[in-house]
Amino acid sequence: MSKILVTGGCGFIGSHTVVDLIENGFDVVSIDDNSRSTTYLLDGIEKITGKKLKNYKVDLKNFDETLAVFQENPDIAGVIHFAAYKAVGESVEVPLDYFENNLFGLINLLKCTKEFKIDNFVFSSSCTVYGNPDVIPVTEKSPTKKAESPYGATKQMGEQIIEEYSRAYGYNSILLRYFNPVGAHPTTFIGELPLGKPQNLVPVITQTAIGKLPQMTVFGSDYDTRDGSCMRDFIHVCDIAHAHTLAVQYLLDKKNASKCEVFNLGTGNGVTVLEAINSFEKVSGQKLNYKVGPRRAGDVVAIYANNAHAVDTLKWEIKYGLDEMMDTAWKWELKVKQDEALMKKQNPALN
Ligand code: WQD
Repeated sequence: MSKILVTGGCGFIGSHTVVDLIENGFDVVSIDDNSRSTTYLLDGIEKITGKKLKNYKVDLKNFDETLAVFQENPDIAGVIHFAAYKAVGESVEVPLDYFENNLFGLINLLKCTKEFKIDNFVFSSSCTVYGNPDVIPVTEKSPTKKAESPYGATKQMGEQIIEEYSRAYGYNSILLRYFNPVGAHPTTFIGELPLGKPQNLVPVITQTAIGKLPQMTVFGSDYDTRDGSCMRDFIHVCDIAHAHTLAVQYLLDKKNASKCEVFNLGTGNGVTVLEAINSFEKVSGQKLNYKVGPRRAGDVVAIYANNAHAVDTLKWEIKYGLDEMMDTAWKWELKVKQDEALMKKQNPALN
């Protein structure tokens, strides 16, 4: 049974990937300092898989403590790296925090994988590296553009650091460019737990519907799209998670065509903000209290994936549609309301 180290295993995509790895026969350990996550999801992982995930509460910026995890787990066969700050707006306010956390953490991790000769590294990247694309859908060969935010810049720099690492030292790596991960595990034992006021569309929708937020704003309805609102490629977090399992197996089987290979993780369907809201209202039976407001600075007008490389090469299959994304997100929000007191006790940052 191959052992995989997941950094950020207590987070949104990390926890769903841990579940998928365990269900596919992998042994998993996690590094997560819980600065932006809560141990509540560890309980959820155990309820789904029956396995207690070993999480090392370590800050990747601390090299010695990170190295100690590898010394304690010399059988790590691969690493999947999620742990990073990811709020676009916050990154504009405190860019140095983002460059220090996201890049120092990555470099320390790569120094450990090099030290222990671990030849399989999967990196959580983002479609944000494409900026505002001139042509959609985007393929992995579409030009990347100057990031619109320090968050996006850390993803671009992270990709470049890993490319050079793979080239110079000969270790294999995969860069997974997520489009918009949304939804929650069908069991509602794990899901997205945004700290403080959410920025991303779907948690804003569900928190507005449940009454945590009084009203939401659609940022612009005068874009050049079919209904004037922005277009995105929303993809279920469980589909994203399984792509990580396929990617790490692809590396373990040494099937990768190049030392550092890139895959788009999107459904290949463009959905507008207003269409996403309509889907939510349909599946939840809730009338959403929203208004149309001004555009949000830095927003991409329209983007969605050409996902043929991941579908053909990783044999990746998309299992969830838009309605299921909204349905699982809503059921998770209802569960969070029920367990709120417990979550806040486990992580005061959630207050
Ligand atoms: C989607 C659309 C908003 C909130 C970013 C990062 C990406 C990834 C996901 C981390 C936009 C509109 C949103 C609201 C709205 N980050 N919106 N009202 O900006 O596409 O992607 O988050 O994993 O790397 O770039 O996601 O959900 O913030 O916005 O109208 O209250 O929803 O304008 O058009 P985005 P988002």
